[in-house]
Amino acid sequence: MQDIPNNIRKLRAAFVLSEDQIKDIAGEFQKSMAHGIQGKESPLKMLPTFLTIPTGEERGIYLTVDFGGTNVRILLVELKGHGDYHILDRYVFPLTSARKDYDFTSEKANGTELFEFIAEQISNLIPTGSDYPLGFTFSFPSRQNKVDQATLIKWTKEIKTSGVQGRDVSQIFQKALLQKGLNGIKIRAVINDTVGTLLTAAYGDKYTDIGSICGTGHNTCYLEPRSPVTGEQMIINMESGNFNVLPFTGYDSWLDQRSEIPGEQCLEKMVSGKYIGELTRFIIRDFIEKGLIFKGSCPEIFFSPYVYKAEDVSTFLEDKGEDLPLIAEWLNTAGISESLLEERVTLKTIASIVVTRSIQLVAATYLGVLQHIDPHFNEKHTIAIDGSLYEHIPGYATMLRATMNNLLRDKPGQAGTKLTKEGSGVGAAVAAALVQ
Ligand code: BGC
Repeated sequence: MQDIPNNIRKLRAAFVLSEDQIKDIAGEFQKSMAHGIQGKESPLKMLPTFLTIPTGEERGIYLTVDFGGTNVRILLVELKGHGDYHILDRYVFPLTSARKDYDFTSEKANGTELFEFIAEQISNLIPTGSDYPLGFTFSFPSRQNKVDQATLIKWTKEIKTSGVQGRDVSQIFQKALLQKGLNGIKIRAVINDTVGTLLTAAYGDKYTDIGSICGTGHNTCYLEPRSPVTGEQMIINMESGNFNVLPFTGYDSWLDQRSEIPGEQCLEKMVSGKYIGELTRFIIRDFIEKGLIFKGSCPEIFFSPYVYKAEDVSTFLEDKGEDLPLIAEWLNTAGISESLLEERVTLKTIASIVVTRSIQLVAATYLGVLQHIDPHFNEKHTIAIDGSLYEHIPGYATMLRATMNNLLRDKPGQAGTKLTKEGSGVGAAVAAALVQ
């Protein structure tokens, strides 16, 4: 006999991790870091960035372009020293044509078109003839041989633009800027958004040595004390979203097999904003198909890929009312005008289980990094985090902090998490200033 409590119990057992499981994952993560940095086979790419942390003396006005998904953010940033900065101008736009009939992130579009479109938006904002050093945040796995060059290894987050993989995005972008007459805009540094987040926080807080994004995508970078490339300190972009020594469930395999890159970005598919909505939806759909909830109906939203999103997960978790009125309203808008309280509780519980696992897995990787850089937790560390999940999912930041504190039971004060808003964009200005 199928019943809701039993199925929720099974789901919880498969998803929610014990402290020992979290520590085991942290250990595996630490091992993968060590292998990756030594050039041995590892799910962690451990990409050199050719950057170290700022001194706080970096100053000046910089243009930054932040591209890590379907929206691009342009900032004009003034760095004033020691963590102080001012955003002079900002413009955010989607990567679709003005008439919304052309998507620059689809397979149909190519790299030249994509970067010419971005350059055009810059030219609408910045008068021709202006001179600005440009910090470019490009948040996809890219190999760098120097700080102002980055070869895209592979698109993630379901972006599909043709002809960019394997190419130096800096070159394509610089050419597009020239094409639009922006001769005075020179790309000084290409960075990952995790690196931007670390740099922004480190600009004002000397304890920052880990930067992470918990948003549409997921990834973490850290300050490696001795990079094998230079023998000196260097920020390493781990591309930790690709970590894969993880307790995959049947639901995870289902999602993975239907994604653009099956078998890759396993951690990202278990934790990040692009996927937690889809994962939650699929579990809900399974409950519907088992006849546990919404008996006899088949609410379309739970049967359409990628329509139910992380924002909807947020709405479910936000609802603190006894009768869960927000969820009832949400269901109503989705065409389900009548629902039982038990059904609404089930939806909220499923969402909360998926989010709990996301937090636990992210915490496990942070613990792995801390163990790698400071095995006895002798130093203080700030983990700078940006991204919509961390900022907006109710309880995400609080539970992440609590999980970290539990894991570092003997020395809980040694590692703090810190929201670093707009870190990915501002950090590109810090990076450009660092390489002056
Ligand atoms: C990308 C990373 C990026 C992360 C967060 C992942 O999909 O591979 O480079 O840092 O998303 O945006």
